[in-house]
Amino acid sequence: MSVGVDVIDDDHQAFFRVSALLQEFQSCRVENRDALIETALNILEEYIEGHFLREETALAAADYPDLEAHIALHDDFAAVVSRIIQDYRDGDKARLDPLSDLVANWIGNHILTVDTRYRGVLTDENVDNQPLARLIANADPMDEIE
Ligand code: FEO
Repeated sequence: MSVGVDVIDDDHQAFFRVSALLQEFQSCRVENRDALIETALNILEEYIEGHFLREETALAAADYPDLEAHIALHDDFAAVVSRIIQDYRDGDKARLDPLSDLVANWIGNHILTVDTRYRGVLTDENVDNQPLARLIANADPMDEIE
């Protein structure tokens, strides 16, 4: 499922691992299960924000023609995940049930079909390879990508 950019491939692999972690934590019966789930949710939120920022910034710099549609897909997915997580944190624990499948499906629905279209446009040379947390911290909130 390579898009030909090492750091983005690593992000995508991390996404797959977060989905597996969520599934594992949701099904385990340990005392600190809620804390484990919260950790996975924090990782997922950071992934979504940081990875989308990395991709969108690089695509914008490359004048990618389908940027607007790509961003819309990111925004829709982020909104759905955010709503689920918020409902869960507000006490609706069952809302989390479909989340790991939703994340896993994102791999097939987006990474394998939409992200692969920019293969050759983005390269190891024109994508910021900072860790996600640093990318987020260094992002200028006034620099909205359009
Ligand atoms: Fe890798 Fe467009 O998300």
